Amino acid sequence: MTIKNTLSEYGSVTKFFHWGIFIIFVCMFIIAEIMMDMDKGPDKWQLYGLHKSTGLIVFFIILARILWKLVNIAPVLPNTMNSKQKMIAHTMHFILYICMLALPISGYVMSMAGDYGISFYGLFDVVNVLPINKQLADIAHEIHEIAATAIYILIPLHIAAAVYHHRVLKDNLLTRMMPKRKDS
Ligand code: HEM
Ligand code: HEM
Repeated sequence: MTIKNTLSEYGSVTKFFHWGIFIIFVCMFIIAEIMMDMDKGPDKWQLYGLHKSTGLIVFFIILARILWKLVNIAPVLPNTMNSKQKMIAHTMHFILYICMLALPISGYVMSMAGDYGISFYGLFDVVNVLPINKQLADIAHEIHEIAATAIYILIPLHIAAAVYHHRVLKDNLLTRMMPKRKDS
């Protein structure tokens, strides 16, 4: 397995980003659901702090992933797909990237514009570059919820597409994103 992508498969760095971000997102979603269900109190706010601090780190990991994508070639989609299906696949991936970015950005905006601030794991206060503006905070809150809902809907479709390629079309689309390939 190569470090960079080739025209036929993803390299180790892209796979590391894809599966690393997948695991972090699962944790972030679980933390979010638990913290929002909790009664008001120190434990709830501690979990909010964990979610917010980790979310900021994730933002930079996502930026690094996108940068890596931009300096790399992408494996071509298999011939089992017609041009319309390829267009849908690219659009789905593009929307996933938008949602991945929208979550931490809107999280930062809702916290800062809402005047809650962000204490980075209790170590220091994150710089606020925004004005306190409840309306802006509400819009960011809305965007955070919409992006989260979109991910909840798109990921099952994304997984279904991968399984369909593997089981029905029997092409290499799923295996080329897997951590290890039989022939590597
Ligand atoms: C990639 C990173 C992130 C993911 C995947 C994520 C995911 C989520 C999800 C799924 C929810 C529940 C939304 C709902 O159903 O209403 C949520 C809520 C929340 N997130 Fe994030 N988030 C991320 C980053 C951030 C960041 C960076 C911040 C702030 C700095 C933040 C602040 C919040 C807050 C305050 C809530 C609770 C909103 C409420 O109480 O209604 N999130 N997040
Ligand atoms: C948070 C969850 C996930 C997100 C945000 C996500 C996002 C993405 C994105 C943006 C791409 C396009 C990569 C590129 O730039 O070329 C991609 C590719 C891929 N994903 Fe995911 N993914 C997630 C979870 C999963 C899961 C659970 C599976 C398991 C079935 C999966 C299977 C794949 C495969 C097989 C590809 C490669 C498609 C190709 O070869 O062109 N993903 N994913």
